[in-house]
Amino acid sequence: MTPDEARTCQKTKHMDADSNSKYLTPFERVNELTAKFTQLLDEQLKEETESLLCLDSVALYGWLRDRMFSASCTAFFGQKLVEMYPSYCEDFFGFADDFIKFLFQLPSYMMKDAIGRRKRIIARLEEWSSQMRSQCGGTPIDPESVDWEPYLGSRLNRARQLDYTARGLSTRNGAALDLGLTLGLSANAIPAAGWMLFHALDPKAPAGLLPRLVAEIKHSEKADHTLDIATLITQPTLQSLWQETLRMHVDVLVTRHLPEDFMLPLDEEGERKVAFQKGDHLFAGSWVGHHDPGNWPTDHAPTDVFDAERFVVADPKTGERMFNAGKTAGKLFPFGGGKTLCPGRFFAKQEAIGAVAMVLLRFDFEVKGFVDSHKRPTPSFPLAKHAFPGSGSQVPGGDMMVKIRRRQ
Ligand code: HEM
Repeated sequence: MTPDEARTCQKTKHMDADSNSKYLTPFERVNELTAKFTQLLDEQLKEETESLLCLDSVALYGWLRDRMFSASCTAFFGQKLVEMYPSYCEDFFGFADDFIKFLFQLPSYMMKDAIGRRKRIIARLEEWSSQMRSQCGGTPIDPESVDWEPYLGSRLNRARQLDYTARGLSTRNGAALDLGLTLGLSANAIPAAGWMLFHALDPKAPAGLLPRLVAEIKHSEKADHTLDIATLITQPTLQSLWQETLRMHVDVLVTRHLPEDFMLPLDEEGERKVAFQKGDHLFAGSWVGHHDPGNWPTDHAPTDVFDAERFVVADPKTGERMFNAGKTAGKLFPFGGGKTLCPGRFFAKQEAIGAVAMVLLRFDFEVKGFVDSHKRPTPSFPLAKHAFPGSGSQVPGGDMMVKIRRRQ
């Protein structure tokens, strides 16, 4: 956007927050979005299980990423986007890798490819939204009516498209915001699901972890072989795996610009304080709290080690395994905080746990080894891709090579 366009957009940004609070955060809406996402992913996986008996060597994260992107994009934006722009997934993840370069405004000669790719994405999104609007007779179907329709998808997307017109944004600026929503939707939850699957299948993980996860998934399976998401997302090991993935693999730098003087208390009694002045910038890096050994119980692995069951405890009354997030407020903040706290956090949890569960339910995996970021074999479990610190979910810098077999 030009600076003028960005100012117009900023003035009406509260409309984004209104649409999110109506169509993205309420549980009913989250459940609706999850139901669509899981239905679409299930259809894809089912089709594959019918044609596939065994794949000998598959790069697991790449495989999962493409399928989750297609299902989540279709759930949010409708069926036509991925049909009209089949290479959106590839372009999008290239854009996501370059995103921070745009934020730091690197000189254009250092990011020619990134600029070309962004132009292409916005042009294709603009073409899509213009065509979809004309197919809907000019106005998107009322978000208060059906939960999903093929042209413009979810209630949230239809509300946003209506808002773009009300905010006086051009179709090009609307397309830029659609790319922004894709970033929120796909750049964090999909890599997080990838890490969950890696840790679940890691040959060095505790021997009982995978059987416990599979048992919880089977416990959530309905008679028609679909998953009961409400049961699934309350299972202790699955929840702990999700929480530990957020602790270990999300790195955010929550940034605030102070509109007035501000006194920040450093202890509960308010005896130690730091004074900030209007105009100052505050940065809160999640990495510190997520990794500080003083913040986490000592009867688990050190905080620089992934411990999938860090948040599983024994119920004091029954002795049964239960999930306990512990005293994590202010220490674990992968979704930021305050007014702009991630509105997609509830969907993200259902999407990631749902996807991992569906994949583990349908397929057996045999880990064959690992590859590094240049796809060269390596004995090491994948590290995070080189990126600027504080930019959200870490993206795997390598992959896990697996043999995939259809579960009988
Ligand atoms: C593991 C998954 C996710 C993580 C770690 C994550 C993290 C974040 C963070 C740190 C912020 C900024 C918060 C702040 O300013 O304090 C944010 C904002 C946002 N996220 Fe997420 N997110 C995830 C998934 C999602 C999903 C699935 C969506 C769905 C659409 C989503 C939509 C958004 C939106 C729209 C914003 C902007 C909110 C605003 O500026 O008002 N996120 N997210």
